[in-house]
Amino acid sequence: MTDVTKSSQVSGFYKLKPTERLALVKQHANLNDEEVILLQNTGSLALDLADRMVENVIGAFPVPLGIAVNFLINKKDYLIPMAIEEPSVIAAASYAAKMTRDGGGIQTISTKPVMIGQIQTVDIKDPYNARMQVLLAKNEILRKANEQDPVLVDAGGGALDLDAKVIDTTEGPMLITELHVDCRDAMGANAVNTMNEAVAPMIEHITGGRVLLRIISNLATKRLARASCKVPKESVGGEKVVDGIVKASAFAAADPYRAATHNKGIMNGTIAVIIATGNDHRAIEAGAHAYAARTGKYTSLSTWEKDPKGDLVGTLELPMAVGLIGGAVKTHPVARTAIKILGVKSANEFAEVCTAVGLAQNLAALRALAHEGIQRGHMALHARNIAITAGATDEQAEVIAAKMVEERKIRVDRAKELLDRYKTSGKI
Ligand code: MEV
Repeated sequence: MTDVTKSSQVSGFYKLKPTERLALVKQHANLNDEEVILLQNTGSLALDLADRMVENVIGAFPVPLGIAVNFLINKKDYLIPMAIEEPSVIAAASYAAKMTRDGGGIQTISTKPVMIGQIQTVDIKDPYNARMQVLLAKNEILRKANEQDPVLVDAGGGALDLDAKVIDTTEGPMLITELHVDCRDAMGANAVNTMNEAVAPMIEHITGGRVLLRIISNLATKRLARASCKVPKESVGGEKVVDGIVKASAFAAADPYRAATHNKGIMNGTIAVIIATGNDHRAIEAGAHAYAARTGKYTSLSTWEKDPKGDLVGTLELPMAVGLIGGAVKTHPVARTAIKILGVKSANEFAEVCTAVGLAQNLAALRALAHEGIQRGHMALHARNIAITAGATDEQAEVIAAKMVEERKIRVDRAKELLDRYKTSGKI
């Protein structure tokens, strides 16, 4: 085998057991025994299960899992599992959910769980005629697609429709056929990609062209979830705060630099739930940001307005390609348990909950930004972490963190000074 201390070309790495791979990595990266033990500790995800989920496994990467409380969505109470490394997010979501409760909670709706599968056909002499021929053969193509997944069809889903478009590219015109597949409770990538591949030869035959890519689109514009809430002005902190949030919303709608951060705040909430439940967070992020740019200009995904009574009204619309069956959702024991905690019964209900959490998270961020600034809340947690890094116990950290926030000096050297003083005199 290749000398791993010199090269990252390790032939047969995938054939090794996780422990053997870890031994190689240890040697390559000069890991000490303590570091190896860290990687070996896979927690609630058994090593052999992790090894079956992805390739070249050596361990697992734990992320904190917390519960956001206070969520009332369509008059149903939810405890929301959130997996995230960033402090303040779960507390902020819980706080915002409490505010929305004062206005009756969050209302949601969603479209059918329809995903789009794309089939790219090149080398067509008469692409517009080819497009027509594909559209004329719609029933035949859909029948072929549905033959691939009788279980999905029995569950009320399957390929419902198709569309075709000619696009101009640097490589000339191409015909893009799009299957619209109702994926029911699955995220749908497997079902859609299988259907795409199955109908590709038919499309070649019909068009006389050559099919290249056959893949699901993550811009899931036919699978949308929507959330809205009305928050009484008193619950948000008064008229001035409402006005501030409305202006913050206008800023994000008008400016892509702000919109990216605004939407990141929405994703803080949504993605934490997506990760906790073993769903594909890259698909959700890609879809959300592409959706935010669907008009040709990247903008905010949410809106915040003041109603005639002066209360705050928020809305959020997201493409939501989530599933409750298949993939890590079913295999990862923590993901399964997170779904049980949520108590959602369908992918649609789950999509709506993820959107509601995004809306609440956005509210919390805008309220903090438009009111006292984001740093106060962030700094309290940051200061606590710094105090613990300086060697404080949990109890000492509370006192030291409070002092550092008051002084606005949050540094390890200062934490050490305060800790020494606290240890010798009992006060700071
Ligand atoms: C930080 O993770 C998220 C925020 O930047 C979102 C926002 O600015 O709206 C606070």
